[in-house]
Amino acid sequence: MATFVDFVTRSRVWRSFFRHGMPDNPLDRSLVMTTNIFFHLHPVKVNWSSLKATYSFGLGVITTFLFAALGVTGVLLMFYYTPSVERAYSDVITLQTQVPFGQLLRNMHRWGAHLMVLAATLHMMRVFYTGAYKPPREFNWVVGVGLLILTLGASFTGYLLPWDQLSFWAITVGTSVAAYEPMMGTTVRKILLGGPEVGQGALTRFYALHVMVIPAVLFLLIGLHLWRVRKDGGLAANENAGEQK
Ligand code: HEM
Repeated sequence: MATFVDFVTRSRVWRSFFRHGMPDNPLDRSLVMTTNIFFHLHPVKVNWSSLKATYSFGLGVITTFLFAALGVTGVLLMFYYTPSVERAYSDVITLQTQVPFGQLLRNMHRWGAHLMVLAATLHMMRVFYTGAYKPPREFNWVVGVGLLILTLGASFTGYLLPWDQLSFWAITVGTSVAAYEPMMGTTVRKILLGGPEVGQGALTRFYALHVMVIPAVLFLLIGLHLWRVRKDGGLAANENAGEQK
């Protein structure tokens, strides 16, 4: 006798969402993976060993999650922040003291940024120690290096935005160090600061880099990075040991 569950799962509405039967056979198991926007990021077949939490510690996924969280909290911060030398500092103080959950919002963004740098670095170390940079993943390693540089760039540009003593002097020192690079140093410093010293020009440029340029390139490169993980056959552990499941 047909049950209520049978009635629902056979309905047209259900079948328009889930274009496969129960995943109790190889074909439907494959369809579950390939017809779902999130699951299709994974290969249809993976090795047991790559599913062990201790293989990757989920560090790449954690970094991706932090990037998304920073995007959301960053847009919310933009509602309250003006990138002007007269207003930046007081806007941040107002956010922390007058806006409901403003302090929490700012801290989530700041701690998220620190954690993203940490997670991306640990992720790179994990990839190195498991030898996952070897062919065919050498291109994705290079993409990863780009991601790490951009992550550090986002951190550096964001540091100036509160326009307090710490940020002002940190960027003054940071850009002065950059100027010591013998070939392009002084030019890079000028391009970054938009003038001879840290002032409105620098704040405008750092803001544009921080909220637009770097996140957009990061977004595209993370997409490329995840696509490459998929195209290279999932995590490297797949080739290293064990039977296929
Ligand atoms: C914004 C920074 C980054 C994000 C969001 C990110 C994201 C990811 C994700 C989600 C994975 C698959 C799951 C996992 O390993 O946890 C992955 C794998 C990989 N990542 Fe990254 N990654 C970043 C930075 C880097 C860096 C700095 C490197 C190295 C220089 C790198 C090289 C690789 C390689 C080679 C793989 C394949 C690993 C394997 O097959 O075992 N990634 N990444």
